[in-house]
Amino acid sequence: MLGPAARLAVRRFNEIRQVFRQSPQASRSFSTALNYHIDTPDNNPDMPWEFSASNKEKVKEILSHYPSNYKQSAVIPLLDLAQQQHGGWLPVSAMNAVAKIVEVAPIRVYEVATFYSMFNRSKVGKYHLLVCGTTPCMIRGSREIEAALLKHLGVERNEVTKDGMFSVGEMECMGCCVNAPMITVADYTKGSEGYTYNYYEDVTPERVIEMVEMLRKGEKPPRGTQNPGRINAGPEGGNTTLLGEPKAPPCRDLDAC
Ligand code: FES
Repeated sequence: MLGPAARLAVRRFNEIRQVFRQSPQASRSFSTALNYHIDTPDNNPDMPWEFSASNKEKVKEILSHYPSNYKQSAVIPLLDLAQQQHGGWLPVSAMNAVAKIVEVAPIRVYEVATFYSMFNRSKVGKYHLLVCGTTPCMIRGSREIEAALLKHLGVERNEVTKDGMFSVGEMECMGCCVNAPMITVADYTKGSEGYTYNYYEDVTPERVIEMVEMLRKGEKPPRGTQNPGRINAGPEGGNTTLLGEPKAPPCRDLDAC
């Protein structure tokens, strides 16, 4: 038999659950695509996958950083290389290839690939646009940034445009809050040789659309802050403190002692 406090708690829980059921907007949307695997024609363990000849050299170089009895320490850089080679995502056969190289059971590699949100378990666009969704960026308008991108590209979050060029995902804080809101562009257009992962800061809904159109034309928007009034992460309009030469620290005259 529940006491009055427990009954009240159950009633509140049911009320909140009802609100979430009735309003899809009220439920939390997940930043990454779902991480379970279902065999498909382009993602199954029978699909042959191996590193390219030039990447096999990089694999050797990566392994050389670790003791030979700790090959599994190389799992993250090897998955990263595999993802770059495979156009931005990791099919199960690529993860199996990495497991074979580092001599662990495949599940040990799946665990890593599904834990870190920079590893994509389903297809992404040649340009994967990642909007920071954490509080400072959210307060500065990241939801409007994401909405503008999704509307302009005609996709949902984690969906790829029909021409395969773009996808939009979400990341948590990327350590650039001083220039919030910001997005990252992972560029897989040139495979692992020309892969880049650049930050674009102080963005606005209009600016991210301009950037998408520049990327579509093969142009490179300038990295970093998109606010012309600011240098790097400095204050807009110039410095307001630390304007003169710094004074030397006070120092005791040792000869006078
Ligand atoms: S909250 Fe967006 S970079 Fe920190």
